[in-house]
Amino acid sequence: MKILFAASEAAPFIKSGGLGDVASALPKELVKIKDNEVCVFIPYYKQIKENNSFDIQYVTSFNMPLGWRGQYVGIFKAVLKSTGVGKNKRCDLVLYFIDNEYYFGRDGLYGYPDDGERFAFFSKAVLESLQHLDFSPDVIHLNDWQTGYIPLFLNAFYRGLPKYRDIKTVFTIHNIEYQGKADLDFIDNVLGVDSSYKDVIEFDSLANAMKCAIVLSDKVTTVSETYSHEILYPYFSHGLDGILSANSYKLCGIVNGIDTKLYDPSTDPSIPANFKASDLSGKAVCKAELQKMLSLPVRPEATVIAMISRLVAHKGMELIEYIGEEMVNSLDIQFVLIGTGEKRFEDYMKYIAYKYPDKVSANITFDQKLANMTYAGADLFLMPSKSEPCGLSQLIAMRYGTIPIVSETGGLVDTVPPINLQTMEGRGITFKLFNAHDMYDAIKRGVDLINDKEASQKIISNIMRYDSSWKVPAAKYMDIYSEIRK
Ligand code: GLC
Repeated sequence: MKILFAASEAAPFIKSGGLGDVASALPKELVKIKDNEVCVFIPYYKQIKENNSFDIQYVTSFNMPLGWRGQYVGIFKAVLKSTGVGKNKRCDLVLYFIDNEYYFGRDGLYGYPDDGERFAFFSKAVLESLQHLDFSPDVIHLNDWQTGYIPLFLNAFYRGLPKYRDIKTVFTIHNIEYQGKADLDFIDNVLGVDSSYKDVIEFDSLANAMKCAIVLSDKVTTVSETYSHEILYPYFSHGLDGILSANSYKLCGIVNGIDTKLYDPSTDPSIPANFKASDLSGKAVCKAELQKMLSLPVRPEATVIAMISRLVAHKGMELIEYIGEEMVNSLDIQFVLIGTGEKRFEDYMKYIAYKYPDKVSANITFDQKLANMTYAGADLFLMPSKSEPCGLSQLIAMRYGTIPIVSETGGLVDTVPPINLQTMEGRGITFKLFNAHDMYDAIKRGVDLINDKEASQKIISNIMRYDSSWKVPAAKYMDIYSEIRK
């Protein structure tokens, strides 16, 4: 099958969150499947252009109308050499970059007043570029609102051309909070489609890219099964529960995987000692090195709790802010935080790190090496999200033998069933209500578990053996692609 994967970011070229990981790891897995041809389209951001470590070649360029505008579109290409099966050339993953200085030559990826126009441009350019490339997709897989107008453009401008006639679309919601809203004059001014399309684009008197994609795509997926049910309710849907309910016949959830080659404690060169499920001795070395590096007392008996997260309210930072001091005062723990975000939470973390230097290390930054050292060296990994479409960090933590403590929401429910100490089943400590004392109680249970050496060693080897690869999810996406092509 020929699959075109469109997203606003893809690692290692550019990444601001989990979407960036998914947009390269899933296509890498899909391309390993027999007879598949896969290419990924992302914008050619300034940050990619200025990074000399990639081999990116010019392919072609043309002009394209966008509303009343005529815009330059450049196409660039990179090939990610296969690490997959044998030397099969088909396993190489092709990436195309959509170039336009005006839209993508900026200091950040998102957050500009004309984001709607920037990504409408990207979406249309993806379709237009197929006229210039030797690639005819059977399926276009869209991701989040930035690609949400692709099915609209496909129907409005391209369906009549033979190459586009049979293309099917799958839209994956990674986070329903961001919907790509714009004033209604956007429909004529930027999208340039006639008024008969107004009904599918408009929501709450605004143009809404996510709504449009939900209505027009052949299939809608979210990144976990639980989240696919949650978003049918107003608490999670950010307004779109009615639209999703009306389209629930084509909605399903597929839990994400992680790149298990990249995140492998038995080979990871960025950690001080490698280890595996059958021999955890290296993990103790990693813990001591982490404590040393962060200037925490090197005490094996202190439980290291890590949190690697954007510092925003829906990741549970309000709970930490509420209970943080009580937690460090009453438990023998060392709390390691890595991440940036809202100033209020950054300031709070700096404050408790200053007040309790032996118990808190606040790293207001993002650094992949430090993150990997922390995944490897910590005992517990905290993820108290208010909502979590899938979450990847808990999967990475488990891979490195760090027991997750999670709130029971979205993908956290699907990937971290609660530990039962009688049967030794389960993969983490969980709490139901988004409430600081419930979280505190879960953390206490986590510390008790770590102090029970026999039980915790057993759980650690269990979670390290859990299959979080993309193999199973990729097969499920293939089933969906085949289903809609029937
Ligand atoms: C978004 C979600 C996160 C998910 C990721 C990849 O960042 O918030 O839960 O894991 O997308 O799908």
